[in-house]
Parts: sequence; structure tokens; C-alpha cells
Amino acid sequence: MKILIENKRLNEIKADIKIIFVVNKDLNHKSIEDKDTLEFLGFKGESEESCFLTEKKTVYVGIESLNNEEIRLASSKAINIIKSTNAKSIKIGTYSGDCPGENIKAMSEAFILGSYSFEEYKSKKNPIKIETITICLDDFSRPDVSQETAKKAVKVGTIIANSTNYAKNLVNTIPYEMTSVKLAEVAQELDGLENVTCKVYDEKFLEEQGMGAFLAVNRASHIPPRLIHVIYKPKNAKEKFVYVGKGLTYDSGGLSLKPGSSMVSMKSDMSGGAAVLGIIKGAASLDLPYEVHAIVGATENSIGPEAYKPDDVLVAKNGKTIEIGNTDAEGRLVLADCLCYACEQKPDYLIDMATLTGACVVALGEYTTAIMGHSSSLKQSLGDSASNSGELTGTLPFNRYLKKQLKSPIADLSNIASTRYGGAITAGMFLDNFVTDEYKDKWLHLDIAGPAFVDKDWGYNQCGASGAGIRMNLYWMIEKSKEEAK
Ligand code: BES
Ligand code: ZN
Ligand code: ZN
Repeated sequence: MKILIENKRLNEIKADIKIIFVVNKDLNHKSIEDKDTLEFLGFKGESEESCFLTEKKTVYVGIESLNNEEIRLASSKAINIIKSTNAKSIKIGTYSGDCPGENIKAMSEAFILGSYSFEEYKSKKNPIKIETITICLDDFSRPDVSQETAKKAVKVGTIIANSTNYAKNLVNTIPYEMTSVKLAEVAQELDGLENVTCKVYDEKFLEEQGMGAFLAVNRASHIPPRLIHVIYKPKNAKEKFVYVGKGLTYDSGGLSLKPGSSMVSMKSDMSGGAAVLGIIKGAASLDLPYEVHAIVGATENSIGPEAYKPDDVLVAKNGKTIEIGNTDAEGRLVLADCLCYACEQKPDYLIDMATLTGACVVALGEYTTAIMGHSSSLKQSLGDSASNSGELTGTLPFNRYLKKQLKSPIADLSNIASTRYGGAITAGMFLDNFVTDEYKDKWLHLDIAGPAFVDKDWGYNQCGASGAGIRMNLYWMIEKSKEEAK
């Protein structure tokens, strides 16, 4: 599917289907040729409301305002309708908001995100038939976007969406195939991108590094662990962003076995790992002026005679001892060692991404990522970019009382808190023990347990993996680089 820019009016372009947005319920706008029919059909132009006039080969979708997220939702709504037809070409206007180009970027993202489908395991595939989407610059609203700006916006939007879809594929793949070893092989392929290198470490390295927590989680698995370290390093890179992803290719809970229904979808416990790889793909393709690292702790959490047990005490890379209260709180153990390793990379920004706790889903709901950390300005800055990208976030605050709940009578700390209240925060505070003082204010913890994998379609996301966390971080780096270029 290609997105094209034409400096022409909508009516000058030939296409199988036309998309028209009805902005703010204004059915009298000159772009709307079918006002009477739409009114007859009861179409009001409410946000996300759609109407497909098949004879006219026109899809109408309501949008509340020219806000980018409204544009994304409406664009994907239209694509969803057109997907089921045999249309090969589509045309649409620009719908510029205050910031020329941003709307075109949002539109491009939504067309590509919205047309994603995962059919790997279907015996009968139904590939998308749409070949071209033409965005007409000289539309009815405002011909104020230059062709150059528009083309750049399409390129950026396409890269952001493709990086997100790339991660969705990794997460949707079944756990029998997407093992730690396979994930490392996939990550290795990223070195085909300019300025990207990848190092893959095995259990020997983890032993040398004293990563006793990570190794314990892997102990019952017949598949060895992998520490994947991908680096995108352009010439004259400004700052260093180090991302750490939880790469649990399956989380059965271990000996503290999950109940059957909670285990379903735990192939998605590698979503943080997939996201950090997606961020590298995006950053390198966008040629961002930063050094970006992706560190993935990849293993399964299985059961077997060798399994680590509740009551065990593990020693992490930084020497801290951890009493195990529950083997299902395994993500924080893998991340503990990976965060120690990440601090050694001397980051300017250190961000971990993980499907860490069910408690986070209880706290914020399925669609929202929790942002935690010590620096208010850093939390605010990423939260603002997330909002521009269309990703939902909420901050969860650390506090000294919850920290005390991680105490253990026999070790430096326990891997579970003494009460279940505030479970997302106590998990974040557990991780804090593995971030050295120098990097505390540079660190953010993102719990993506809610949005990473949802069992129903939502907005421009399909049921299954969503690539949560990728768009917000790419937007963040893009916005930072623009700010710094000023
Ligand atoms: N991978 C899960 C968290 C999770 C739950 C992700 C639901 C996505 C959806 C994590 O490893 C886990 O099992 N956490 C436990 C922690 C508890 C034992 C302290 C949880 O949330 O129940
Ligand atoms: Zn778990
Ligand atoms: Zn887990």
C-alpha cells in the first residue's frame, strides 16, 4: 500500500473510492455532495460515525475537530470499511489543522496501522487489496501544505506505523516459534539498517556478569536465555537513549503457576522487548540524531524440576539479594539485571518498557500505559509526546511507604510487596533498586501491561498486539530533536 501526494483537487484525481471527513457535523461544507442522502440516512457526522454510500463510492466519516487523534480514528474507520471491498485506489483531502503536515503524518499512520492484519496462522489469507491512497493537497479546506512538507509527513508517519506493525508481528507470533533464540535472530536482522549493530549474549555472558536474577527465571526453560543489545549510532549523535525491554517470550507464572485463563495471551509478555526493537527500527529509519540502545532480556518463565522457587534467594548483577515470594513476579527479576547492565552504558535517558503487572491494568484500564520515575519533568515530557502520538498514559507516583513493603526478613528485598495494593507502583519501586544513583533522574519505567495486548479491536488497533510504547517514544525523540534544532 502506497500513500501518494498530489497537488490537485480531489475531483481531478481518479480513484475507486473517495473518503470525505465531515468536520464538526458541518454537513453544509462544500466538500459534501450528498447532504440530502446523508440526512435521509440519519448520518449526523458525530465523531467516528461513518456512512458508506456504495453507489457514489464515497465513505463519509465524522470528526469532531481537526485534532490529529480525530484524524487517525476517522482515517482508520474509513480504511476498515474499504478493506472489505475490492477497491484498489482511494483518494482523500488534507484536513489541515494548526500545524501543516502533522495531520498528514497522523493520517498516514492511521492508514498503515488500521490496515494491519495478522494472518500467519490462517489457512486462507485475505490480503489487503488497496494499492494506493492519494492525499490531495489542493482540497476544499486549505491548500496551505507544501508538497515537500506533505511528502516528509507521509514518510515519517509511514515509518512510525511500520515500526509499530513490526513489533505487533513479533508479539502475535506463537510462543513455540517466538523463543528467546528466535527473538535474538530477528533482532540481529536489524543490523541491515544503516548505523545499526546488534550483539547477542548467551547464558555464559549472564553468568560472567553475575546476572543471577535473570538466570534464575530461565532455569526451568529448555530454551537458553538471550540478552539482546541493539545499537543505533549515527555520526555526531547528540544524546544517548537507552531502552530496556521485558522479553518474556512466555510467562506461565513458573511454580507460582498462573490459573489457566490468566495464562492465555502471555505470549505478549515480550511486548516491552518487541517495542524497544521497534523503536530502534523507527529511529534508524527516521535517521534520528540520537544514539539509541535497545536491551532485551529474553527468556521464558516455565516450570520443571530446575525451576526457581518461592523461598529461593537470588543475587542480582549489582550484588543485591532478592527473596522470591512469587515466581510469577519474574519480569522485575529479568529487568533488574538488564537495568544494571543498561546503567553501564551511561545513558542520558534510561527507559524500561514492560508488561509488568496486572495491577497496572486494574489501576489505569486496558488502554493506558503507566509512566513512573523520579523526575517530574521527564514524566511530563514523555507524557506530552505520548498524547501527541495518540497513545494514552497516566503517571503513577512512587512513595516511601510503598517502598517499605518490599522488605524481606532474610534478603535485601523481596520480589513481591507485602500487600497487593499499589502493585504497579511497588513493581516500579522494586526496579528502582537496580538503577544507580547517577541515573535515577534519567530513568522512566513504562508499564504497558494494559495496552500491549488487548483482546478486542480499539481505535486503529486490532485485537492482539498493539506495539504500545513505540509511537510515544518515537514522537518524543522527534519532538526533542526539533526542539534542539531551534
Ligand atoms: N506478565 C505479568 C503481568 C501481566 C498481567 C501482563 C496481565 C499483562 C497482563 C507479570 O509477570 C505478573 O505475572 N505479575 C504478577 C505480579 C504479582 C505476582 C506480584 C501479577 O501482576 O499478578
Ligand atoms: Zn509473571
Ligand atoms: Zn510476566
